[in-house]
Amino acid sequence: MRNPLLPFPVKIDDIVVETEDRNLKTFKLTFLNPEDEKLFQHRAGQFAELSLAGKGEIPIGIASSPTEKGYLLFTVNKVGLVTTALHRLQAGDIIGVRGPLGNSYPWEQLEGSNVVVIGGGFAFTTLRASIVYMLHPDNRQRFGDITVIYGARTPGMLLYKSELAEWQQRDDISMHITVDATDDPEWKYNVGFVPTITKEKAPSATNSYAIVCGPPIMIKFTLPVLAELGFTQEHIITSLEMRMKCGIGMCGRCNIGTEYVCKDGPVFSLAQLARLPAEY
Ligand SMILES: Cc1cc2nc3c(=O)[nH]c(=O)nc-3n(C[C@H](O)[C@H](O)[C@H](O)COP(=O)(O)OP(=O)(O)OC[C@H]3O[C@@H](n4cnc5c(N)ncnc54)[C@H](O)[C@@H]3O)c2cc1C
Ligand code: FES
Repeated sequence: MRNPLLPFPVKIDDIVVETEDRNLKTFKLTFLNPEDEKLFQHRAGQFAELSLAGKGEIPIGIASSPTEKGYLLFTVNKVGLVTTALHRLQAGDIIGVRGPLGNSYPWEQLEGSNVVVIGGGFAFTTLRASIVYMLHPDNRQRFGDITVIYGARTPGMLLYKSELAEWQQRDDISMHITVDATDDPEWKYNVGFVPTITKEKAPSATNSYAIVCGPPIMIKFTLPVLAELGFTQEHIITSLEMRMKCGIGMCGRCNIGTEYVCKDGPVFSLAQLARLPAEY
């Protein structure tokens, strides 16, 4: 059996600066040994540990869909030691990837239902993976209506801008992009906070699941709106960002009560979270 603590060596194939503050970059990684790609079979919603020699390891959500073959995408916010070191790397540099780790969004459970994807800020990464996954021709018919509500502080802080524009043109997904504020005369989408836009666009709760990821303040004010619309706790799914170390349920760094966020999560329904101590 392969040692689960051993990273796969990967090459940085491309780096995209996503946001106007240049603090968010998407890293496209390719496996140095093509056979390693077969061992790294992920599902949308999972994460991996990215490792930089001499710096450390960090858990990062996988931003590429399993339907995108030959590479992995990770979008990383520059906040501290390892993320800053990663931001300094160039295409061609080698790092490590350990995973895939954690559970995923519950795709079998979501099948046949409408899916409302609600995201804010840079927590949109695994939501991007999920949208690309659901829109793939092999999968689109497995889901009902797909609605996306995605907000950032300003137009320049949105991730994946060209893909957002492409999805906006499609008739098999309803896009509601919003920013907190802007004086950009070219801005043609919504202005307002995510909870307000969720209320205004009022996606139906009938036969629907909501996947909600974003800053705690966005989640706090979006959940009551979803409850008002009729979404039950079982039908609201979120992903937690606890501090982690091993990522495989061994070190005890990430536990909430009896659950290890790295292994039993990071994806939980609100109903599952309601049964845990409020330590997250
Ligand atoms: C399952 C999971 C998925 C994640 N996905 C992403 C992602 O897609 N993109 C992304 O940019 N980040 C993501 N994160 C957060 C990311 O792991 C941290 O930002 C990173 O570990 C910080 O490392 P650092 O060495 O640069 O920061 P440090 O030098 O360790 O710390 C710098 C600052 O970041 C804060 N910080 C450190 N670790 C975390 C953490 N786990 N969560 C929140 N704040 C933290 C510290 O409190 C401190 O203020 C994810 C975290 C988890 C657990
Ligand atoms: S990070 Fe070690 S148990 Fe979860």
